[in-house]
Amino acid sequence: MATSTASHNRVLNPVLKQRIMSADEAAALIRNGDNIGMSGFTGSGYPKGFPTALANRINSLRDKGETLRVSVLTGASTGPELDGALAAANGIEIRLPYQSDAEVRKRINAGEMEYVDMHLSHVSQYQEYGFFGKMDVAVIEVAAVYEDGRAIPSTSLGNNRAWLECADRVILEVNSWTPLAIEGMHDVYYGLDIPPRREPIPLISVGQHIGSPYLNIPIEKVVGVIESSEPDRNSPFKAPDEASKQIAGHILEFLDWEVKKGHLPPDLLPLQSGVGNIANAVLFGLEQGKFNNLTSYTEVIQDGMINLIKCGKMTAASATAFSLSPEMIESVFADVKEFRKHIVLRTQDISNNPGIIRRLGVISMNGMIEADIYGNVNSTHIMGSRMMNGIGGSGDFARNAFLSIFMAPSLASKGTISTIVPMVSHVDHTEHDVEVLVTEKGLADLRALSPKKRAQVIIDNCAHDDVKPVLQDYFDRAKKTAPALHTPHILSEAHSFHERYLKTGKMLP
Ligand code: COA
Repeated sequence: MATSTASHNRVLNPVLKQRIMSADEAAALIRNGDNIGMSGFTGSGYPKGFPTALANRINSLRDKGETLRVSVLTGASTGPELDGALAAANGIEIRLPYQSDAEVRKRINAGEMEYVDMHLSHVSQYQEYGFFGKMDVAVIEVAAVYEDGRAIPSTSLGNNRAWLECADRVILEVNSWTPLAIEGMHDVYYGLDIPPRREPIPLISVGQHIGSPYLNIPIEKVVGVIESSEPDRNSPFKAPDEASKQIAGHILEFLDWEVKKGHLPPDLLPLQSGVGNIANAVLFGLEQGKFNNLTSYTEVIQDGMINLIKCGKMTAASATAFSLSPEMIESVFADVKEFRKHIVLRTQDISNNPGIIRRLGVISMNGMIEADIYGNVNSTHIMGSRMMNGIGGSGDFARNAFLSIFMAPSLASKGTISTIVPMVSHVDHTEHDVEVLVTEKGLADLRALSPKKRAQVIIDNCAHDDVKPVLQDYFDRAKKTAPALHTPHILSEAHSFHERYLKTGKMLP
């Protein structure tokens, strides 16, 4: 396609050209109770004009005493124009499968919005089997559409293939902010049949392309085409803090030992890195470290990965979306032809596919809210009840990784709360899926340890110095008084620990 930046030159299909309309006209096509599948994953590739117009329509209908509420399904989190605007308008009935927006979080925790928090690899199959009900409309951001209906995707793929196939009607948002030279970076796999006809997915290396660079647009279903030029959310980059750097240091030292022991190859195995400060600190540590020819099989491409590619230490990265700072996405766009040689964007049923994660032997590194002394991890709930973001892809990766690492500072909430507790207030990842725990205090390698051994190494290596005596005392008494000694607990104390210590904002009695 020619390098035009204007949206109207990016819709080459004559039928679709006829369907170009304003965002307000497209929003007027939505009915109360519709299930809407939108593109978007971790702040990239989500429609911008459509949801803003829909939020305006919801507000103006409310002024007239009418109700318009919809269910919103995406790839993962989106941006303020989508989640923020629709939640502020109180227009979301059900939200899934992941969010990280302050307004959405507020509504979920106030009981004003239903939220289904689920493994990101499961979502497309749930829709294909109709577990969420019929999908009324898909609203998908793309970079351009060819004459024959093949679309160049934008900065994320998420569930776009499934949404386009499942929805009754389709609205396209053609965004001219995405450079056309991104063409070829995507890999949309159309070979996922349903069981029992599903065949092996032929992906055996990180950078391999097994599908098409295009999304197939079902022209007959398209009821509207919107033009936009708004950039993705792209949060500013925060330099790693001291605790994150220390956590990164422990992980890098550990990986180094694993190579020396012959447990990992010298170039490591494909890395999966969760979002946030600590994940970026690990990537920055790798930039200065000695590992070469690194690869990444992950969910999102972060700033640290782009730096690793730029300095030649990472050869291939596979993800479903970009999640970059504004400066970094501009630098990728400026040299997108070069980055196409190293980066592949896939739909999330492939980027997070358990079978492929196991096959490639991924090293997964994810943030956590808290872990308990036996290694169970809570990634989602504050004090057992309040939703933070969601499990996202952490379960897809942790359960199937070659090496599953969880990390957090030993104290959270401005140093008032221990992230190591006797019993987690909510379980996302069981002790069976957690192999390594890391805080700035140190690293606990839990592999092949029985529960009591795990507890001691977690208390010794990961707990904050002020908290260690409290946990040791609990563990020692549990070993004397628990009804059984395989996983010793004093339930009355474990269950009230968060109330007694954490709710007050003070760890020590
Ligand atoms: N008790 C109470 N509050 C806690 C807490 C604890 N043990 N641990 C963290 N918090 C609070 C923090 O104080 C902060 O609250 P604030 O925003 O009101 O200050 C909030 O939780 C987030 O903490 P922060 O340190 O900023 O988290 P982070 O950016 O390192 O992210 C997770 C940590 C767990 C929230 C994040 O990794 C996540 O959402 N994980 C699940 C999804 C995932 O893993 N995705 C990647 C898979 S590919």
